[in-house]
Amino acid sequence: MRPVRGITRTCVQKGFGMSDRKAVSRRTFLNTSVAVTSAVALSGSRAQAARPQSQPEKFVNPPDEKVDVRVGIIGTGGRGTGVMEGFYKVPGVRITALCDINKPRLEAAATQVADDKPSLFDDYRKLIDYPELDAIAVETPCYLHREMGIAVLESGRHLYAEKPMAITVAEANAIHAAARKAKGIYQIGTQLRYADPWQTAIRMIHEGGIIGDVVFIRAHRHNIQDLPHESTWFFKRELSGDTIVEQAVHEFDLMNQVMGGVPVRAAGFGGQNVKFDPPGRDIRDHYGLELDYGQGRVVSYSHSWIAPPHVPCDGRRELVYGSKGAIDLETGQLYLQGSERPKTIEFKKTSDATLAAVRDFVRCIRERDRPFADVEAGRDALLVALLGRKALDEGRVVTMTELLAEG
Ligand SMILES: NC(=O)c1ccc[n+]([C@@H]2O[C@H](COP(=O)([O-])OP(=O)(O)OC[C@H]3O[C@@H](n4cnc5c(N)ncnc54)[C@H](O)[C@@H]3O)[C@@H](O)[C@H]2O)c1
Repeated sequence: MRPVRGITRTCVQKGFGMSDRKAVSRRTFLNTSVAVTSAVALSGSRAQAARPQSQPEKFVNPPDEKVDVRVGIIGTGGRGTGVMEGFYKVPGVRITALCDINKPRLEAAATQVADDKPSLFDDYRKLIDYPELDAIAVETPCYLHREMGIAVLESGRHLYAEKPMAITVAEANAIHAAARKAKGIYQIGTQLRYADPWQTAIRMIHEGGIIGDVVFIRAHRHNIQDLPHESTWFFKRELSGDTIVEQAVHEFDLMNQVMGGVPVRAAGFGGQNVKFDPPGRDIRDHYGLELDYGQGRVVSYSHSWIAPPHVPCDGRRELVYGSKGAIDLETGQLYLQGSERPKTIEFKKTSDATLAAVRDFVRCIRERDRPFADVEAGRDALLVALLGRKALDEGRVVTMTELLAEG
């Protein structure tokens, strides 16, 4: 399957990522394609636009700022450069070290933040040993998250850990234990925790009781765009954890927030029936999953990579149904029982969720606060993915108790 750019185009047409720059940044941004990258990351999706350009344009950095948070990034691929851009925009932050085993990517990223004069490394252990660092973002493929995340936590630095937290229960437990002992804070990279309309809608569900008691969520992510094929790790289940672990944790995190916990059991079916490239790809291309959150509260979720462009129901949707109505977390539309027309809840759309997430990470460092996307949130989202993966693998109902026994 050839990568197509439909999701990117949709985001840009909606204007995501275009208005926040003036309001939040004291730095001048010359590279508009980088702003688009952040917009793509808002929905947790990826695009080839996220790659550093062969001739990356440099950000401009005013010299008169008091710097109190020095950040290192391990992994300067698609997501790493997006997160780097977010950090670069936060006042008082400098990118002082970068690491990647891919030299062209490392150099492209270094060019973008050249004003910060980052030190460059091809071995992540050397970056961790570099003394001029307060915080480190781990932006590498999923199978490296445990090893690198624990090394950062043990070094005493604050960790911005890309999602998924890990790819097994045992790894998640090890990271959780390390984070509980660590001097630094742990924030997981599920940035929709910092974005609207999702968070305003969830607050209105919980605090305002806007749809009554939650009973059901109908959600999907139907991708019309394949991942960049140079990221070969994604297509190997033992490296990415499969699509349900690598990608659906964003949705599972939202569902856990709405339901106030993790599901008690799961059942579902899926497969790899469409022979996409690259060869050797062993991840599912589609599945449907039912999650039982107890007391009759159910999530019905489907996820696929087989949607052609312009097909109805492409992209993402999370519709939450309650005893008094339903709300769409993706659009903020509210549908109340007895009301003739839907209405839109009041929210200010977050133009760059990644920027919002890293800005709050920096605030937590400065104020010694606990991140909203903390280690528990990261582990809970991963547990849902692993529960679902086990149910799909074994074609039966699997309980959370059974899954946890594996750890
Ligand atoms: N939060 C989000 O919305 C979001 C979006 C996309 C990806 N992600 C996550 O970000 C992570 C990276 O994904 P990506 O799309 O950027 O992948 P990518 O392949 O584009 O980038 C990964 C980078 O890590 C580098 N790398 C690999 N092994 C390394 C090592 N040992 N030391 C240093 N660098 C190493 C690679 O060379 C590459 O440049 C994954 O966990 C993915 O799930 C999150």
